[in-house]
Amino acid sequence: AHEPELVPHKGIKLIEGTHDPDDVDQICNLEIRDSDVFVITYPKSGTIWMQQILLLLESKGDVTAVSKLSKYSNADLIPWIELKGNRQAFITAPSPRLRVTHLQHHVMPSALSQRGKVIYVARNPKDVLVSYYHFHKVANMLETPRDFSDFFDKFLRGDVFGCSWFDHVKTWHSHKEDMNMLFITYEEMIQDLQSVVRRISLFLGKEMTDEQLANVVKHSTFNIMKKIPHANYEQVPGDLLNHHQGRFMRKGTIGDWKNHFTVAQNERFDETFNKEMKDVPLSFIWD
Ligand code: PPS
Repeated sequence: AHEPELVPHKGIKLIEGTHDPDDVDQICNLEIRDSDVFVITYPKSGTIWMQQILLLLESKGDVTAVSKLSKYSNADLIPWIELKGNRQAFITAPSPRLRVTHLQHHVMPSALSQRGKVIYVARNPKDVLVSYYHFHKVANMLETPRDFSDFFDKFLRGDVFGCSWFDHVKTWHSHKEDMNMLFITYEEMIQDLQSVVRRISLFLGKEMTDEQLANVVKHSTFNIMKKIPHANYEQVPGDLLNHHQGRFMRKGTIGDWKNHFTVAQNERFDETFNKEMKDVPLSFIWD
């Protein structure tokens, strides 16, 4: 079968057939409203999780209301801005416009420095690598890895969609004060989902009762999400996701890298991490 290619484009990489370069070029000029919210992630860092939380906050914790509206997946209601055709839909969409993106800072709307809100979710990159490796086997728009070691090299080189994890996180983090941004980590969400949900509701100015908040938390836990078809991509057609190769909601834990990395790979990873992140005031929970 033909494997879709990654196309280098203006310092980022696009997936052949999935992204339209001309469309992506226009994203930086989009007008932004105060009510716009962008969830920004490097791939495999908690995108669907944050979509689930935002949808539940919109519905005041009513999961059946969300299920009625999402036909295939959470991305029906909170789409990727960079997917073919989605930029045009964004322009005329009613408020609030909630969107997700894996894009890098330099191609995103410059108006975000004046208006709108950004939630950036970062995940420890060893677990991102492992999650991304497994996802490459499931996702038909991504090249099937030859083996783990080959994928490991590609990830460290930034030769994947999303490019270098280090650049993505560093750059967005460095723009934290230029925009209205809430910066959170996947690991914080694992350790104390309730307080993260509370922070998000405050950040978005959502008035929620304790009971409503408790419902948001309950329906965004891994075990519940796994059973909700639109929250685990179960209904996405087989030409996009090869459901026989694995589940989107795979493990949802911290530290699975320990089951995959060799000692030598771990040393190489640490070396790169320490070099790339030495001036960045960010720390991660690794296990
Ligand atoms: S994508 O393809 O970039 O949109 O993927 P993304 O949604 O960013 O990341 C998928 C990983 O997030 C895990 N996940 C969760 N973990 C814990 N709790 C909850 N509720 C949750 N929801 C999604 C998902 O399982 C993927 O991680 P791995 O490590 O592969 O399990």
